[in-house]
Order: sequence, then structure tokens, then C-alpha cells
Amino acid sequence: MGEIIAIDGPASVGKSTIAKKIANKYNSPILFSGRLYRAVALAIIKNKVDLENNKSILRIIESIDYNDLSSHELFTSQVDKVSSEISTKPFLRKRLLKYQREFPKRFGKGKKFVVIEGRDIASVVFPRAKYKIFMWADSAIRAKRRYQQVQKNGGKSRYKKILTEINTRDKKDFTRTIAPLKPDVNSVLIDTSYLDIEQVFNVVKDILSNKRL
Ligand code: DC
Repeated sequence: MGEIIAIDGPASVGKSTIAKKIANKYNSPILFSGRLYRAVALAIIKNKVDLENNKSILRIIESIDYNDLSSHELFTSQVDKVSSEISTKPFLRKRLLKYQREFPKRFGKGKKFVVIEGRDIASVVFPRAKYKIFMWADSAIRAKRRYQQVQKNGGKSRYKKILTEINTRDKKDFTRTIAPLKPDVNSVLIDTSYLDIEQVFNVVKDILSNKRL
């Protein structure tokens, strides 16, 4: 089974971009764990399930499949909000642990690395991961990047709105009692505030070739 690379950090810090670049370079399987939370949120929205109805939510989790993780529908601000909301539920996190821990066993055979991206991958899901990377940037910088990306793609949004949404999600991620977002004790912290994607990727490649450990 491939060595696990855990990539954690707050929303919009560029985790998935870096995770994809690693996966492309090393032909590694990749799990964007946030998509599990998003897939559950999407099914909750579609089936109009009450967020307090844990029994129905549990049924939804049981029906989630890895194939549900590539839908474009997972990336709406409603799904952002509901996934952030439900990620504070201990029973749900516990059930999603199983999916995440199964992933390297199912897809990592014969591979050098398995990339898993999220919030609590190094601290909770794979505490024994060989490589633990925590990416960081201030919320104002993340909001600015997201705003520029939306503009570049011809979309409409306001910087202030994006910043407010990021701050709201940060607050949930940082303050939930179960698996709050924080760097694990032996994570390598990369402050991306003044680095572009290529520079971050260079740092990560050095870490993977043990040049920076
Ligand atoms: O990374 P993302 O934005 O796709 O994640 C969606 C939501 O899921 C986010 O609000 C936080 C939550 N999440 C989490 O609690 N733990 C993870 N390992 C990944 C995501």
C-alpha cells in the first residue's frame, strides 16, 4: 500500500490544487475527504432531511458511494453551508472515518503514495501517515484568491461575501469539539500567504523526497 500523504488546512487554502498536482506527478489515488461531507449534505438537501434527524442522516451515509464524489452539484454555496453544519456531528464523523480508512486499502495497492486531503486527516483519520502537511493562509488572503478565481472564470461574486463565508466556515472548523482543524504535532506547516502554487508544490516535493525533514 502507498505511503499516505495527509494534506490538511482551512477552506480555500489550495489543498485540492496541491493534492491534484501530487497525484498527477506520482500517479497516486486521491481522496478529497470534504467531498464525503458534501455528498452527505447534497443528499440531505435533495431529500429535504431535517438536520436534527440523525437516523435519516445515518441512512444517507450508508448509501454514499465513492462514485458520488465527482458530481458538480457538490460545489454550491448551499452544500458548502450544510456540509460545514453537519461536520460538527460526532456520529457522522465516526461513520465517515470508515470510508476514509478504507480508501488506501482499496486504491493504494502498488502505488508509491496515496493522497488524502481534508481537515483532520493527520490528526484523526491517519495519525500514522508518513507525510503530514498543513497548509495555511489568512482568511483575507484566501478570500482574495477565491474572488480572483471566480472573476477569472467569468462568474459573479463579491469579495466581502466570500470573506464572510470563509470566516463562517473557519469558525465551525476551528471550534467544533470533535476533530477541530489544527496542525497535528508532527505536521509540516506551509504558510502559503506569499507563495504561489508552484512554490508550494516545490516545498511539497522536497518534503516527499525527504529533503526538508
Ligand atoms: O474541503 P471542503 O470544503 O470540500 O469540505 C467541505 C466541508 O466538510 C467543510 O465545511 C469541512 C468539512 N470537512 C471536515 O469536517 N473534515 C474533513 N476531513 C473534510 C471536510
